[in-house]
Amino acid sequence: MSEQSIEPTDSTSRINASGDLEVSAYLEIAREKQGQQPVTTGKPVSSAGQEAVVVFDFGSQYSLLIARRIRELHVYCELVPHDTPWEKIAHLNPKGFILSGGPSSVYEENAPMAPAYIYEKKLPVLGICYGMQVLAKQLGGRVASGLKKEYGHAVLHIGDTGSPLFADLPGSSPVWMSHGDRIEEIPPGFKPLAYTENSPVAVMGSENRIFGLQCHPEVAHTIYGTTILKNFVYNVCGCQGNWTIGNFIADSLMRIKEQVSDRKVISAISGGVDSSVVSTLIHHAIGDQLTCIFVNNGLLRRDEENRTLAIFRNYLKMNVNYVDATDRFLERLNGVTDPETKRKAIGNEFIKIFEEEATKLDKVDFLAQGTLYPDVIESESSTSNVSAKIKTHHNVGGLPTNMTLKLIEPLRYLFKDEVRQLGLELGLPEEMVWRQPFPGPGLAIRIIGEVTREKLDILKAADWIVMREIKKANMYRQLWQSFAILTDVKSVGVMGDFRTYGHLVAVRAVTSNDAMTADWARLPYDLLASISSHIVNEVPGVNRVVYDITSKPPGTIEWE
Ligand code: XMP
Repeated sequence: MSEQSIEPTDSTSRINASGDLEVSAYLEIAREKQGQQPVTTGKPVSSAGQEAVVVFDFGSQYSLLIARRIRELHVYCELVPHDTPWEKIAHLNPKGFILSGGPSSVYEENAPMAPAYIYEKKLPVLGICYGMQVLAKQLGGRVASGLKKEYGHAVLHIGDTGSPLFADLPGSSPVWMSHGDRIEEIPPGFKPLAYTENSPVAVMGSENRIFGLQCHPEVAHTIYGTTILKNFVYNVCGCQGNWTIGNFIADSLMRIKEQVSDRKVISAISGGVDSSVVSTLIHHAIGDQLTCIFVNNGLLRRDEENRTLAIFRNYLKMNVNYVDATDRFLERLNGVTDPETKRKAIGNEFIKIFEEEATKLDKVDFLAQGTLYPDVIESESSTSNVSAKIKTHHNVGGLPTNMTLKLIEPLRYLFKDEVRQLGLELGLPEEMVWRQPFPGPGLAIRIIGEVTREKLDILKAADWIVMREIKKANMYRQLWQSFAILTDVKSVGVMGDFRTYGHLVAVRAVTSNDAMTADWARLPYDLLASISSHIVNEVPGVNRVVYDITSKPPGTIEWE
């Protein structure tokens, strides 16, 4: 298929954290309602010969980033709440611990501290920012409120160039600081290893095994941050670097086969990244014991169902039960104008159809789901309060009542970028792996007011043009999302010698890292001009195009 014909159309749902499909959101909520625990097939546990570094989360906005950076160094890493008991992480066979930063002050009452085993295990420990202050406090040093706070750039001067933490670092280098408190007295057995203008002890260490860092090595502003983390995991913890997608695949295939044995699995696909990758991975493991169910709600982008079917059926040779339920969905949406009612109607109908399809199959035991690691962290972390925000967003209602399937979630420990890499390694086309997120309720929430076939046709045509022009300008991957909205406004125009009275189409393009916040994309004027003129010339009934220049907050990415 040519680049032109594959217009990336991701159908995702857990956008903020994982970018997966609405389907997953429904089913995840269903599971929560039923108190069902997922079967974590494919978890890359550190069994014999494997290794992991465990990050303890004290609530820093950068905690997750630490875990990502360590994984990028090919060392398996998990982020756990700061008070996680040893029994919960022992199976990982940790080679070292990292204590993250956090908003607390160690001298506050009930300030979060590290569990005793962190010190008793005699494994390497790296405390970052608040984590360093925790080390200082628990090991007998003294922390005080800094006279001068240190936020932003600083220069780190290394005192002990022989430390394994500083291999390949220059004597002085820019670092990122974000702290008010500072170490006044280092704990017994520790040496100061580096300083900045405002922190006489910016790095401290003991026995070349326990280190405290006042700066944040996980953020890009700390120029040698990755080197510091690399030195810790390789030189101090002695890791080998065996965390690769290749190993993950081998490990997952084995586990999925073992778990499923000769039983059957179903998955819901939509063309979105996560559901596609999870289905493909499971298909690699158990072949035709997997059946994918693809419900076309009629709210997909132009030609999306055909492209998705072609990839799964013809290219990947997978079993796909395809249901064109356009009529049923449009019927449900008849007369509905309220955005939340639209979402609920679509959600309810989807679950109904999915259940109908699932019961048509011979005894099925498992349901595959594309849950990603950030979702898991959100629901498990005791310090994070972000999940509430995300859940309400996807509170679509309409849950299955009699689902007795066990869940298989092989991507449960992967970050989005790892999922993309996995997709590529499994042979999924780039266009699918790099799709922009697309909401589960699809084009219905981009048609303001009632959804009709006529409006869907107009929006599909306009949306296609936006995508085509953005791809032509090579901007597709830089943008979190880019799409058209069919507003309920009509305006007067003139075409040739005639007065027109046509629809107003809005164009939205945003940059974002996680959809929690977003900025409107500064698209070049020429690109905007060509999008506008193609839409008014090629889409009948549209005579005006506007560009949305609202960031999130206060706007949302979608209009409904
Ligand atoms: P907003 O519009 O809240 O969207 O800024 C944030 C991200 O979530 C997607 N979105 C949805 N995804 N079901 C979904 O699966 C929904 O009901 C839904 N509403 C918004 C949106 O596309 C963006 O990526």
